[in-house]
Amino acid sequence: MPTMEQATMEDLLKMLDPAKVPAHVAIIMDGNGRWAKARGLDRSEGHVEGVSTVRRITEIASEAGVKCLTLYAFSTENWHRPQAEVDALMHLIGIAIERETPDLIKNNVRLTMIGDFARMPQEARRRLEGCFNATAHCTGLVLNLALSYSGRWDIVAAARQIAARCADGSMAAGDIDEQTFARYLSTASLPCDCPDPDLLIRTGGDKRVSNFLLWQIAYAEIDVTDKYWPDFSKEDFLRALIRFQGRERRFGLTSEQLLSN
Ligand code: IPE
Ligand code: IPE
Ligand code: MG
Repeated sequence: MPTMEQATMEDLLKMLDPAKVPAHVAIIMDGNGRWAKARGLDRSEGHVEGVSTVRRITEIASEAGVKCLTLYAFSTENWHRPQAEVDALMHLIGIAIERETPDLIKNNVRLTMIGDFARMPQEARRRLEGCFNATAHCTGLVLNLALSYSGRWDIVAAARQIAARCADGSMAAGDIDEQTFARYLSTASLPCDCPDPDLLIRTGGDKRVSNFLLWQIAYAEIDVTDKYWPDFSKEDFLRALIRFQGRERRFGLTSEQLLSN
């Protein structure tokens, strides 16, 4: 058996247990700027290269049997970056989505989004909407983009809807439990009853969650890699899935309890 680092794509696919592939993988795609800086390029060149990574990771996630891939593409806090970078990113996101739509359809991938859609620029909204509609019939991988998204935004938006229902009398405070609350989070709109993320990958080496799916990652396995997002390969993704398969998910129980179940 080759080691994980030596293994080829074919070896890695063989090492993967199809019965234990995480249904929902979420990724904090970080390191585009540092990747560009290391090459003396503008940060925006890193974002352009990052789009190619999105393409290949979508392909391999689909091939590996992942049901839902949530990609953190732009956070609520990212609106505070220099305006030129925000504009370039928004333009790039719109262009890439339009360009990739035919291939998404061909590969049976459905595009969805979580985040503050209304805050996105009109051009990006138009292109996103076009892709949501064009891929709505696709039954394979759900490619879910987190755009203008933050975990706290998500929780506050849910709390507001619940408060409005309590105020109009259609819900009582005592009705609110974890399941009810989760139905008001943005992830409740995902198709195919996507479960909470099983695996959270972060590229770029930083060990933090940066306001990503705060509620939903309660029991996600976390895998941080030093590689910058533009360098993240299909093999790296498969290695993260294989490491995930070796983890014992105890959900608060003891190992002995898990074994006796
Ligand atoms: C991630 O790369 C992409 C977005 C946040 C949009 P960064 O742009 O954060 O790259 P680094 O972290 O500065 O290298
Ligand atoms: C997280 O990356 C957000 C996205 C990947 C979209 P950031 O680069 O914004 O996170 P911090 O600033 O390092 O926490
Ligand atoms: Mg970053």
